[in-house]
Amino acid sequence: MKTRIAVFVMLIVALLVTACQPGAAGSGDKIKIAILAPLSGPVPTFGVSTRDGALLAIEEANAKGGVLGKQIEAVVADSQCTPDPAVNAINKVYEQDKVHYVVGEVCSSASIPISEIAEKNKIVMISPTSTNPTVTLNADGSTKKFVFRACFIDPFQGTVMAKFAMDKGFKTAFIMFDQGNDYVRGLAEFFEKAFTEAGGTIVGKESYTKTDTDFSAILTKVADSKAEVLFVPDYYNIINLVGAQAKEKGVTAVMMGGDGWDSADLDLSAADGGFYSNHYSPEDTRPIVQEWVANYQKKYNSVPDALATLGYDATSLMIAAIAKAGEDDPTKVAEAMAGLEYEAVSGKITFDAQHNPIKSAVVLSVSGGKIGFDASVAP
Ligand code: PHE
Repeated sequence: MKTRIAVFVMLIVALLVTACQPGAAGSGDKIKIAILAPLSGPVPTFGVSTRDGALLAIEEANAKGGVLGKQIEAVVADSQCTPDPAVNAINKVYEQDKVHYVVGEVCSSASIPISEIAEKNKIVMISPTSTNPTVTLNADGSTKKFVFRACFIDPFQGTVMAKFAMDKGFKTAFIMFDQGNDYVRGLAEFFEKAFTEAGGTIVGKESYTKTDTDFSAILTKVADSKAEVLFVPDYYNIINLVGAQAKEKGVTAVMMGGDGWDSADLDLSAADGGFYSNHYSPEDTRPIVQEWVANYQKKYNSVPDALATLGYDATSLMIAAIAKAGEDDPTKVAEAMAGLEYEAVSGKITFDAQHNPIKSAVVLSVSGGKIGFDASVAP
């Protein structure tokens, strides 16, 4: 009897030891996917939406049996849309949680530094929403083998808004931008280039920093310039301030911007009369979009924004790449991802040589307390 108990105890111990082995790629009974999203910091709605979209993709995949016959475990980390916390977050999920697959970050300024860590350590990374071109590129212009994104890039987004402004008959624009934000600075440049090339004139350009809250000096210049368009490609927290102050000052220029406006916390009266480019519209009648909107609504009781949608798409792409690779091996998964053809909610995705999908953009309008669909623009 005693020996039986001893054997039994030894068996249990052996089982526990195996279960606790630190998971090198390929071991363990779960596949871990990290979600690096700004849950705190300047733009928390970006993080919450991205996380919720990503978690829904994992939940759906797990309900269908997971991937490679294993369940998927989500490891969520708050990367704050800011370089240092984002670097800490990826180091933590890689070193402590032994994760080799990362969905994130949302903001380009955070995705750029973590993409370097991903590339160095063979961590497959897909940013759902970072639109600055350098996210997927090495300093010498070559493509980072392990880094992808699920969204279009800013040269396209800038061109979409420049053409949109010209089509509305506007010929003059004033640009305001945060010089320390890679996304904002980049999109401002791409808009300027496209608008000028299309025959428009930039009548003023002023920068500010992320801690600024009083934009009255710049807005006085905007009013004096008589610009027809005020292009502010920043995140919603800044748009809420700039828009309200522009209205107080009687600025008549039509405000325009990019995907950074997309938030449930965008102040619709501050942004009233404005237009912005985005990745998706819930009004899109394609069945895949309507099914997604219904599923998300059922789970979270709200309409998914672009961040939730791209969080879902990016996570689904990662899972599809792991499945296609047939093995829990990051190098093979990255190769599989590069050749993937995938029908995502935000459009059909295939990657170009720089790991960017070629996708359409939508232009949305803010009017009378509502966000409306204005146009869809193909590349
Ligand atoms: N495109 C932004 C960036 O690169 C992030 C973003 C995407 C924000 C979509 C809102 C909606 O920083």
